[in-house]
Amino acid sequence: TVFRLQDYRPSDFLIPETRLIFRLDPRETLVTATLSLERRDPAADVTALKLAGDGLVLKSISIDGKALAADAYEATADCLIIKQLPSSSSFSLTIETEIDPEENKALMGLYRSSGNYCTQCEAEGFRRITYFYDRPDVLSIYSVRIEADRANCPVLLSNGNPGASGDLGDGRHFAEWHDPHPKPSYLFALVAGDLGVIRDHFTTASGKPVDLAIYVEHGKEERALYAMDALKRSMKWDEDVFGCEYDLDVFNIVAVSDFNMGAMENKGLNVFNDKYVLADEKTATDVDYALIEAIIGHEYFHNWTGNRITCRDWFQLCLKEGLTVFRDHEFSADQRSRAVKRIAEVRTLRTHQFPEDQGPLSHPVRPDVYKEINNFYTTTIYEKGSEVVRMIRTLLGEQAFRAGMDLYLKRHDGDAATIEDFVKSFEDAAKLDLSQFSLWYHQNGTPKVTLSTAYDQTAGTFTLHLKQSAIGGPALNTRKPLLIPLVFGLLGRDGSELAYTAPQGVDGSVIRFDAMEKSFVFEGLKEKPILSINRGFSAPIVLKDDFDVAHRLFLAAHDSDAFNRWEAINALLMDALKNAVGQEKTGAALDFPPQILSLMGKIAENDSLEPAFRALALTPPSEADLAREIGENIDPDAIYAARIALQASIGKANAAAFEKIYAANAINGPFAPDAEQSGKRSLRNVLLDYLSLADGGPGRAHQSAMQSGNMTDRIAALSVLAHRFPDADETRTELSRFEHDFRSDPLVLDKWMQIQATIPGEQTVARVRALMNHPAFSMLNPNRVRALIGAFSSANQTAFHSADGSGYTLFAEVVTKADERNPQLAARLAIALRSWRSLEPVRREKARETLAVMAAREGCSIDLSDILERTLA
Ligand code: ARG
Ligand code: ZN
Repeated sequence: TVFRLQDYRPSDFLIPETRLIFRLDPRETLVTATLSLERRDPAADVTALKLAGDGLVLKSISIDGKALAADAYEATADCLIIKQLPSSSSFSLTIETEIDPEENKALMGLYRSSGNYCTQCEAEGFRRITYFYDRPDVLSIYSVRIEADRANCPVLLSNGNPGASGDLGDGRHFAEWHDPHPKPSYLFALVAGDLGVIRDHFTTASGKPVDLAIYVEHGKEERALYAMDALKRSMKWDEDVFGCEYDLDVFNIVAVSDFNMGAMENKGLNVFNDKYVLADEKTATDVDYALIEAIIGHEYFHNWTGNRITCRDWFQLCLKEGLTVFRDHEFSADQRSRAVKRIAEVRTLRTHQFPEDQGPLSHPVRPDVYKEINNFYTTTIYEKGSEVVRMIRTLLGEQAFRAGMDLYLKRHDGDAATIEDFVKSFEDAAKLDLSQFSLWYHQNGTPKVTLSTAYDQTAGTFTLHLKQSAIGGPALNTRKPLLIPLVFGLLGRDGSELAYTAPQGVDGSVIRFDAMEKSFVFEGLKEKPILSINRGFSAPIVLKDDFDVAHRLFLAAHDSDAFNRWEAINALLMDALKNAVGQEKTGAALDFPPQILSLMGKIAENDSLEPAFRALALTPPSEADLAREIGENIDPDAIYAARIALQASIGKANAAAFEKIYAANAINGPFAPDAEQSGKRSLRNVLLDYLSLADGGPGRAHQSAMQSGNMTDRIAALSVLAHRFPDADETRTELSRFEHDFRSDPLVLDKWMQIQATIPGEQTVARVRALMNHPAFSMLNPNRVRALIGAFSSANQTAFHSADGSGYTLFAEVVTKADERNPQLAARLAIALRSWRSLEPVRREKARETLAVMAAREGCSIDLSDILERTLA
């Protein structure tokens, strides 16, 4: 079935109240659902009620307390149709279903993870629990009663505020929960089990006390303290920046070890992948800490953008996700370094979203058709969706943006809203027409802006000519021009911002580029300006400029916009790499411009730049970025060779300076996961890699691995060892020491798996096969599969795309195996081949064949076949 936005119809009935009773049992859980049903339009002639199910077994059914006759309804695993309804405008329907949480390995609906019961209902998992209007525009007030074994399940949680609890005899007990805020079924959650807990408190701006708790496996309580700290900071930040206060007496978070995604914003009961909750110095890297902070924030921020205001239908997914990603980005920027955060965001966007938008899985931020909604939790919906919100802020300015947000939150509180509602709030608050801008939601493909410039000395004019097109998405002749906000500056030779008379379409520091092609003439310029454009990555585009090396070097040194300084450096490295790939193909020896090599030394030494920025500037574009930039006929081996040669050259040219800076950035004193320390660690670890390449041996990294007191340094050293010196004795020693230290902690061992899965070269295929037999590996746990197979297929270009096809063979085996139990996991893995068309012919044909064989398999899930068919189309 294909679902289309244009087919949206409101439901025939409303469900103002939903009562659920769960009698928990590992294999035979009984669910009693009592729905108060109300005709939306009592005058309409509606004679049947159709509710969604998924794999359900119906045990009993009654209306207003009377059991239904066999001919009054039809129940299949996937659907319940009641054909004889009372004529009254409202009635009560009670449905009993039986489910098997233990056997639920798809991790949707109610399932067991490490012996604990938990749920995941977004997007359509609630229908695996009971028959329901499982759609986001049917909002209901939920009352829940959970009955379970007291010994196995001392903790019983659901949404909202806690109510009565007590003993039932026979070793069983119960707890009741009531959520006063009407919500769609996808926000329902239940957790039951034997869990450890840490508790804290928060008082909201208006003085309302909230009890906070984070539930984790026993013995891991200490590792949840950072997440709790991040939660309190999130609650405060949302009050300060958006005026959003929390609205229940309790806020609970539960960490589970089998989870398909990062986390889930269920009202008052967030459920998290334990990877994004647990952290301490010895087991988590600085990146892990930053992710925990961001995701704790993200799920918390959903309480307003997602829960209080939800989506009318799943086509509107970016309404809550794009906006909430924007909010979590801003949160992290405020907690850490804004410039560094922005650079990291853009790198992620380019590495993940650009290839999606430019390839066969490309779709608009607000799609209007889908087969399987789970496949639309994409980087386009999330990250590009966030960029669109950011552009609204750029166009409106800080103040009008906040006014628009305030209006949106006020006007739509309690609604299931649309993107049109969202945009309208900004239009009304700012008295602006955003209809052209809205195209960003509907037109897919990465916009491309080509610029050229001319300076007329005698007239004192500077002409900027812009032209827009796109990579991916609809054909150029059918595209409409987007309104692209380009933040810019015109710099003098001393780096100062020059004064000018601005042409029409330029508003302060923003060029509003709104035509397929347009010239902007700036007047009153006595010297030739140096253009800095798309500052802060104000628009998520590919920019083709006419800047020469001198221009880029100037921006790298002088731009007041930190993002564009980084961008200039990145562009210089990208050009050097592209050049080297060309040389590599002709068999010529690789060499790099000396000024690029010395630039790296100067950046490393520049104490006026924060260490985290220097670390990012010293990191060349990834192999995947380089592949996307080249765009066609990709030979991953040539790309790898070019990149490693550049790194070795940089290392050798700057060894003495790097060594000094490495020493100067050592951290004395106790570990802190803050921006300052993590910046220093990342600079040191980038340098460690360069120095090891210059050394040509594992000694330095081995020493660092042995001395490291924290996971960040340990992992960094271990990666250098494994990736640069895979066959060295030191590498073997350190790998086994790591394995031994964390043999009983699979979450930490995932890092060890991931490092090995990303060792360059085709021998890694055999290594990954061997690791699949490791006792810590499990095909049923998404974190394990992603750490080993996900890393192999998405972050190891040379091995995955081995010319002999062995990487694809392994990949197909694993995806197929995953698909038998967990289609969502399989579909997620399968996107690794989305850019197959840009490979060189031999690999391209092998990749196509792999995709075709997988797609033809009998029993292939809807999730997986949807991805495979679109990828092949
Ligand atoms: N709403 C969750 C979040 O982004 C993610 C849910 C993903 N669901 C899915 N079916 N893939 O916070
Ligand atoms: Zn989200």
